[in-house]
Amino acid sequence: MDRIEFDFKDRTAVVTGGAQGFGLDIAKRFLQSGAKVIIWDIDPKMIEKAHKDLDNPNLSSNIIDVSNYKEVEDCVNEITKKNNIDILINNAGITGPTATLWEYDLEMWKKVVDINLMGTFNCCRTIVPNMIKNNYGRIVNVASVAGKDGNANASAYSVGKAGAIGLTKSLGKELADKNIAVNAVTPAGAKTRILDQMTKEHVQRMLSKVPRGRFLEVEEFTSLVCWLSSEENTFSTAAVFDISGGRSTY
Ligand SMILES: NC(=O)c1ccc[n+]([C@@H]2O[C@H](COP(=O)([O-])OP(=O)(O)OC[C@H]3O[C@@H](n4cnc5c(N)ncnc54)[C@H](O)[C@@H]3O)[C@@H](O)[C@H]2O)c1
Repeated sequence: MDRIEFDFKDRTAVVTGGAQGFGLDIAKRFLQSGAKVIIWDIDPKMIEKAHKDLDNPNLSSNIIDVSNYKEVEDCVNEITKKNNIDILINNAGITGPTATLWEYDLEMWKKVVDINLMGTFNCCRTIVPNMIKNNYGRIVNVASVAGKDGNANASAYSVGKAGAIGLTKSLGKELADKNIAVNAVTPAGAKTRILDQMTKEHVQRMLSKVPRGRFLEVEEFTSLVCWLSSEENTFSTAAVFDISGGRSTY
């Protein structure tokens, strides 16, 4: 299916975790639709590959750990000297290991929550003032069905994503009197590198819960994110958009 273009002309988008997977495809479609895109990712090799693959002068990037507030703040200060940030896609995330809560490694638990939740907080905390000044913004927080349902053997991930959903609802309401929309999306499993972090049995269990009976395609996910990020989304905010193939129908 040919992908329609959204109108992102003159818009600047930051896509965290944009070097591969969901983020890379979102970056690609934003670029095709006329946006300037800044990928933030912790993986320099994958960033380099993204530049090669996308090969677009409107693409730039920073090697950055979104869980480090100072790094995020410095980067935002640098970017906003020249550009407003119109769109923020908080997509960077890790699942962490598959383990029961009582056996979960303490450092890993903190790391998973730090990246999935604090990373989202750090980016919103530093970028929202620029959006307020500009009276324009579209923020999409990539959560997960795990944040709605709570997945067994993925407590840190479920907590991080549930936190991102709560953050979306609060921030969306705080900004509702401005032309700034903040929404969360809750995908089910898609075949990206993130699946390598979980056991095969865990991935199979996730898939067995999806009435559609298959994995989500990255492009299907991008479509939803694009609409939420576009000027056409004039009313929806503080909301959670499901893209779970019928798994989480609430
Ligand atoms: N693929 C799925 O099945 C699935 C399902 C539900 C939700 N999600 C969520 O979608 C988002 C994207 O996942 P994906 O499937 O594309 O995974 P992925 O592993 O392919 O991509 C994630 C990217 O985030 C980057 N990243 C990790 N930690 C970072 C940090 N601290 N700072 C900056 N960048 C960092 C990685 O380097 C990587 O490029 C994640 O938030 C994930 O939790 C994925």
